[in-house]
Amino acid sequence: MCGIVGYVGRSEAAPILLDGLRRLEYRGYDSAGIAVVDGDRVETRKCAGRIVSLAKLVSAQPAAGSSGISHTRWATHGKVNDENAHPHFDARGKIALVHNGVIENYQALKKQLIQNGDTNFRSDTDTEVLAHLIGSIYDGAVAAIGDRGQPGSATPATTSQNSKARLVNAVRAALKQVIGTYGIALVHADIPDFMVGARRGSPLVLGVGKEENFLASDVSAIVAHTRDAIYLNDFDVVAVERDKFEISSLDGAAGHHAVSKVEFSTEDIKKGEYAHYMLKEIFEQPDSVRDAMRGRLTYEECTAKLGGLNMTPAELRDVSRIVLTGCGTALHAAMVGEYLIEQLANLPTEVEFASEFRHRNTPLTRDTLVFAISQSGETADTLGALRESRRKGHRTLGICNNVASTIARESDGGVYMHAGPEIGVAATKSFTSQLVILTLIGLLLGRMRNLSAAQGSRIIAALEALPGQIEEVLKLSNQIKEIAKKYADVSGMLFFGRQFNFPIALEGALKMKEITYLFAEGHPSAELKHGIIALVRPDLPSVFIAPDDTVFSKNVNNTEQVKARKGPIIAITSGNGAKQLKGLANDIIEIPAVLEPVSPVLTVVPLQLFAYHLAVELGRDVDKPRNLAKSVTVE
Ligand code: F6R
Repeated sequence: MCGIVGYVGRSEAAPILLDGLRRLEYRGYDSAGIAVVDGDRVETRKCAGRIVSLAKLVSAQPAAGSSGISHTRWATHGKVNDENAHPHFDARGKIALVHNGVIENYQALKKQLIQNGDTNFRSDTDTEVLAHLIGSIYDGAVAAIGDRGQPGSATPATTSQNSKARLVNAVRAALKQVIGTYGIALVHADIPDFMVGARRGSPLVLGVGKEENFLASDVSAIVAHTRDAIYLNDFDVVAVERDKFEISSLDGAAGHHAVSKVEFSTEDIKKGEYAHYMLKEIFEQPDSVRDAMRGRLTYEECTAKLGGLNMTPAELRDVSRIVLTGCGTALHAAMVGEYLIEQLANLPTEVEFASEFRHRNTPLTRDTLVFAISQSGETADTLGALRESRRKGHRTLGICNNVASTIARESDGGVYMHAGPEIGVAATKSFTSQLVILTLIGLLLGRMRNLSAAQGSRIIAALEALPGQIEEVLKLSNQIKEIAKKYADVSGMLFFGRQFNFPIALEGALKMKEITYLFAEGHPSAELKHGIIALVRPDLPSVFIAPDDTVFSKNVNNTEQVKARKGPIIAITSGNGAKQLKGLANDIIEIPAVLEPVSPVLTVVPLQLFAYHLAVELGRDVDKPRNLAKSVTVE
């Protein structure tokens, strides 16, 4: 949600910033801008629209200089226009600042600045208020002390060091007044080759290069230049120069951070032969599912090995209740997880919307284990839920894809998805990885309780068959594309499933909404007759997720009810299901037979493809759907 890239080095900053923004565009694409320090001026180019528009602007009016900052915006305050695009400036136009997050008390701060005579605001954004606040504190300090100290006492070098220190202090002083969240980067016209970054609640990573350093919202923006990264913590302030950097806290205490190696390369974040990232990521699922279970199964003991949980067998044995929390697609994975853990381990499990959980007083037992599920590891509500759970003293574990993300770092332990970078805004491969990990957790907890070795080994065999079975489903892509074309004119779609596949109905509907903009709803199949059936009509097809499982015949009853009311039916089924649905369903997608608890890993794939092909047919921007952004770092 909003992407930031900053650069200080020996190369021209503008192309590096633009390239980094292209890689962060999935975080927001309402407007974009860059600011480059050129001599004693800051050259800014910014506009509403995508990076491609900004690139045109920069090519028409180049901005030269070897340090600068940049931003791609997902609007929170102020509409989408050129003025509200970042960077924003202080009153004197000296400081350029980019920001990801929300300054909640910006109106109070603005009022205070206006009372002090600062009326030079050009935008409606909270960010501009922060730029003005930092500028006013910095200018006040310079005016009070003077940049030269006693006549004849300062060399240009110490003068410049003074300015840098004053700017960092001004940033600290301003941020202490801020209520809200921020990841920021800023430059000052009078201080070339220098930038300041800070974070609270919004991610910021420092890329450490050779005679060049970077700031970015995530490492994908800088991995082409360096794989050495320092993940900043909340309340860190970093002063960045070409060949050095200094991290300190908001109170000025020195910080020590380890340099981490980024696991992926630029190759991993290329679209390759695929038309869209989403399609590439759907097709990566045989590998990502394999990677989610790699090294985590023990055949001898018919269980799972999850050392990252940081819990002894005795501690795991003592868990009396599980809470799974997350947002959006991750929440749907949690819902499958509830069925899985209750069935495999007979442990009471509940799913909580992270946004609700964090603000309410869910009664939890002493031995409740909380899992925060998040691809990005940065989702504000999930992070809030994790912090609330930890504050209450619960052991809280993360299921994350993004290594070293805030949720991963703040959890007591967890399980990484190892799905590789997910760039398409609609989550696909991270979902199936989450499902695999939740199955592993169910298996591990189950084998400590009531699950026999034979049952455990059946689960393991079913998990191991999944990558090959997903490959089979992917071969149906062309058939699904033809079905999607048939339904391009519908007014909306309903999705139904039962048991393990009820959450898959929700996920199928979410994918459809997100990328086709069609109205879509998911429900447990049996709920149909309790009201939803009133919606059934010829231009509103129903998608039934009905593999040949213990609830198949019940699902068939529900398709009959839709058929009787002239609603078109698309069925996803397996085994003998197709025979029975023939004549009932208008279109049938057949997937391989699969053990019921792991069936969602297979049934969701045709739904991802269905939404994808329909979106392409409708001419939608699949990887950057309207109004959305990946990694929702605001509440
Ligand atoms: C849906 C989607 C979102 C995310 C949600 C949580 O396709 O991408 O619903 O699943 O914003 O994101 P993470 O998993 O990063 O916490």
